[in-house]
Amino acid sequence: MPDSPPRLIVTIDGPAGTGKSAVSQQLAERLGLDCLDTGAMYRCVSLLAIRCSVDPADAVGLMRLIDTHTIDFDWQSHPPAIMLDKQPVEAEIRTGEVGRVVSIVAAIAPVRTAMVERQRAIADVHPRLVSEGRDQGSVVFPDAEVRFFLTADPEIRIQRRVRQLESCGRKVNEAAIRAEIEGRDTLDSTRSVGPLMCPVGAIEIDTSAVGLVGVVEQLEQVVRDRVSSAVLRPC
Ligand code: DC
Repeated sequence: MPDSPPRLIVTIDGPAGTGKSAVSQQLAERLGLDCLDTGAMYRCVSLLAIRCSVDPADAVGLMRLIDTHTIDFDWQSHPPAIMLDKQPVEAEIRTGEVGRVVSIVAAIAPVRTAMVERQRAIADVHPRLVSEGRDQGSVVFPDAEVRFFLTADPEIRIQRRVRQLESCGRKVNEAAIRAEIEGRDTLDSTRSVGPLMCPVGAIEIDTSAVGLVGVVEQLEQVVRDRVSSAVLRPC
């Protein structure tokens, strides 16, 4: 039997609006890796809390929900689709209502412990992975082969999010988007567990003045330079 390809974990962390999701998906595609959106998992717990009328700050209530529902991905779709109790919930987790509570849910220590455990279990099954979030290179996979941290000027991040929502046909209130992004930045970077931070030793890339393709090319080059070609698909 042929040897399975060696493990290759690439982490991409950074605040909202740096292009993490699109960059991660395209990088994964170019390198022939799977792609894990860990923000979708926290959004899914938040959706559950809203549906079941559980206070997003109620650690016991949230853990009961996590223990009694299934949150996983359909790995047959591209990118993998987030599933709650085996049903796709991609649209439902991207609403403003979920956006307003997700930072509160993501700051609850036992919720983070449960999600980190699941993310590592996913990597056991999908060991060739681009994993994106806030703590992937600092907490979940500190031993990843390559770790990136994306940044961008806050005003540019807000405008990107506005355009992204408009392109999905959503009616956009710019002041509300600004308040949501600024609020989430503050909560995500000041929480005591798994805060948003540039992991020590990670490669920091400012995406303010670079388009999506340019960022993906830059990251791809770094990975190809750092990782032996035996571990990668040829260019
Ligand atoms: O990437 P996103 O905007 O979908 O993330 C949603 C929220 O989840 C955001 O407030 C940060 C939080 N999050 C986190 O705390 N840790 C992660 N690994 C991923 C996301």
